[in-house]
Amino acid sequence: MRKKVDFLVIGSGIAGLTFALKVAKYGSVCVISKVSQNETNTRYAQGGIAAVLYQPDSYEKHINDTIIAGDELCNIDTVNFVVKESKQLINELIEWGVNFDKTETGEYDLGREGGHSEYRIIHHKDNTGSEIMRALIESVKQNKNIEVLENHFAVDIITEHHVGIEVKRISTNKTCFGAYILDQSNNSIKTILAKKTLIATGGIGMIYSNTTNPVIATGDGISIAYRAKGQVENMEFVQFHPTALYNPKETPSFLITEALRGHGAILKDFYKNEFMQKYDKRGSLAPRDIVARAIDNEMKISGKDYVYIDCTNIDKEDLTNKFPNIYKKCLDIGIDITKEMIPVVPAAHYLCGGIKVDKYGRSSIKNLYASGECASTGMHGANRLASNSLLEALVISETAANDAVKTFQNVPFCEEIPDWNDEGTVLHEEMVLITQSMKEVQSIMSNYVGIVRSDLRLKRALDRLEIIYRETEDIYQRSKLFPKLCELRNAINIGYLIIEMAMDRKESRGLHYNIDYPFKLVKLINTLK
Ligand code: FAD
Ligand code: SIN
Repeated sequence: MRKKVDFLVIGSGIAGLTFALKVAKYGSVCVISKVSQNETNTRYAQGGIAAVLYQPDSYEKHINDTIIAGDELCNIDTVNFVVKESKQLINELIEWGVNFDKTETGEYDLGREGGHSEYRIIHHKDNTGSEIMRALIESVKQNKNIEVLENHFAVDIITEHHVGIEVKRISTNKTCFGAYILDQSNNSIKTILAKKTLIATGGIGMIYSNTTNPVIATGDGISIAYRAKGQVENMEFVQFHPTALYNPKETPSFLITEALRGHGAILKDFYKNEFMQKYDKRGSLAPRDIVARAIDNEMKISGKDYVYIDCTNIDKEDLTNKFPNIYKKCLDIGIDITKEMIPVVPAAHYLCGGIKVDKYGRSSIKNLYASGECASTGMHGANRLASNSLLEALVISETAANDAVKTFQNVPFCEEIPDWNDEGTVLHEEMVLITQSMKEVQSIMSNYVGIVRSDLRLKRALDRLEIIYRETEDIYQRSKLFPKLCELRNAINIGYLIIEMAMDRKESRGLHYNIDYPFKLVKLINTLK
């Protein structure tokens, strides 16, 4: 089946839906989501959105905090731009119906998280993401120009390669003409032709065994762009959230928001002693890379599987009012957080790198944009400052939308695109090979490419991944497509990109820590001078 739309949006999280709502004023929009549209990373966001709303906060302070957390690798221009747009975009979210918590005096109630020098996190209780998704989905439903296709899986974007056109005949860059989409209701592959396409497929957490990310986070969009020869960067910077609830039976892991530490909770070791001051004078509120590494070290010292977060010092009513979901979740597994400490462990949480885009969300492929967690704008550098992700997604989706609507009318549909050739045979009996291989990828990435790395571990990871890659390509060539197979291929691809870029970085910086190069390269050169 074929379909033509002005704007194709792959992903229904904050990045995809913000873009869709904006471009829908100008043309037809098709949003696709590989499961139900609400099942996104966005939905699980707890802490909130970083935004400069009141004094004594200032743009300069937020910019400075972002750059310090990013360990000298942020794109300063992008940081300036995104931070200065924060107030306007928050106002738009409010216009779309998002409710943020207010104080008794009617101002927005601002929280604080690691690495922030001020209270600046606007939030809805401890479930900000689900409130944002509720409002965005409502707004999308009311918009006649937007069609949402759930349970539709993006397999690949369409470029000159699929038509057999030589790239240089059209332009020096490749061009995106739309995407091949697997409709899971009947296992057919649709050809969706689009004038402008946005990839907004979120993160990659699922390539690790222990993650806060929902099952959709297999890095599909990044892998799709990379296969189409789009530029991808900064993949070595995988952020581990320091405090996922330690509950080995549960996957994905439930997050214990950093806002809890911003509200006074303290990290303690297995023997119930504070330890963060040993590592950083900002204590429990140091940036995430530092806290996650410190916890990893404490777990290695004690030989235990977790540390604790202690919030028993916070007033009971205040605690249960501000963090009702964490209170309920912990109570469900037998922990009363008003009286007992919560066992926590770091978990893969966020990818700072991804599809390289400029501040208008433009990728290296013509008519292809990317926004949200799958995109790399340079905003986060080597380590993202807490609650800057939702902000970045909002701002870049807005600038991408503004850019896309300027030129889409001059873009012709490329009629020569052939339909997907899906001649393989279905291999239901091979499903165990797919699920087992995925577990192996997760185990390789967790054991060798986690919080602390070494040359030997990275080399071993690459060698092991190579075997799974060959086996999976063999199955792929013979099979009809199905989502789990596509996700496995994509996960292997993402693992490969992370390992290769980690191997190339001969230093330790931000989220990338290699025991063979425990220094920052710039500092080392400066010292040598
Ligand atoms: P997502 O919201 O993940 O949406 C991705 C979409 O892409 C989904 O609709 C999915 O179905 C679709 N998709 C993926 N692959 C395909 C495919 N092959 N075909 C079709 N569709 C596909 N950030 C903050 O700033 N503040 C916070 O408080 C915060 N808390 C967080 C708490 C948790 C537990 C987690 C996991 C993350 C948190 N983050 C937070 C990070 C932030 O939520 C994410 O980075 C952000 O929501 C990503 O939004 P997105 O629109 O890029 O992607
Ligand atoms: C949290 O609430 O701790 C997560 C915030 C984030 O990932 O930005």
